Amino acid sequence: MVAFSIRAAGPADGGFLADMLVEAANWRAGATRPRPVILADATHTAYLTGWQRPADRGVVALDPEGRPVGAAWYRLFAADRPSAGFVAAGVPELIIGVRPLWRAQGVGRALLRALAEDARSGGYARLALSVEHGNFAHDLYRSEGFAIVATAGGRDTMVRRLR
Ligand SMILES: CC(C)(COP(=O)(O)OP(=O)(O)OC[C@H]1O[C@@H](n2cnc3c(N)ncnc32)[C@H](O)[C@@H]1OP(=O)(O)O)[C@@H](O)C(=O)NCCC(=O)NCCS
Repeated sequence: MVAFSIRAAGPADGGFLADMLVEAANWRAGATRPRPVILADATHTAYLTGWQRPADRGVVALDPEGRPVGAAWYRLFAADRPSAGFVAAGVPELIIGVRPLWRAQGVGRALLRALAEDARSGGYARLALSVEHGNFAHDLYRSEGFAIVATAGGRDTMVRRLR
């Protein structure tokens, strides 16, 4: 078992979260959309612009030397400015990414669990996400209690009930 720890994300983590946003956007094997292109695309940056807003919450996984290796975070979206996985006002949507060298070692699942716990203790009843068809993360989400509530444009919106 590889040792890693998890801490709450803070305002100074914006740069690392941007790295993980790029990983999430480039999830497909062989995808190499350049970072500046992804970070100029509002459909992606909507999840991060202005981090850390008052309702933004996240968790960061650290290697034994304290370097960040993965992150998951959620943000609320308004009904008049919905996101890819928008379900309803008051249902936060999450993003997750793990550095390639650290994948398939339990970091992603641990981040998802920590984030869901944070959302539950924050009083949220549901947590949402959007995942493209073909991404193995779909099975990870399902095994963590997320269920498909909508499908459109090659993506599924999944929701986990927290209480
Ligand atoms: C998706 C992601 C966050 C998962 O994090 P991770 O640390 O790799 O996941 P874990 O090690 O916790 O593995 C979770 C499960 O997925 C499975 N899994 C991991 N890598 C896999 C792979 N390449 N193919 C198929 N299944 C895989 C594991 O077997 C594990 O299941 P198990 O616990 O039953 O063994 C990470 O792989 C990643 O950053 N991918 C690119 C970005 C991305 O796709 N983000 C999500 C966009 S919606």
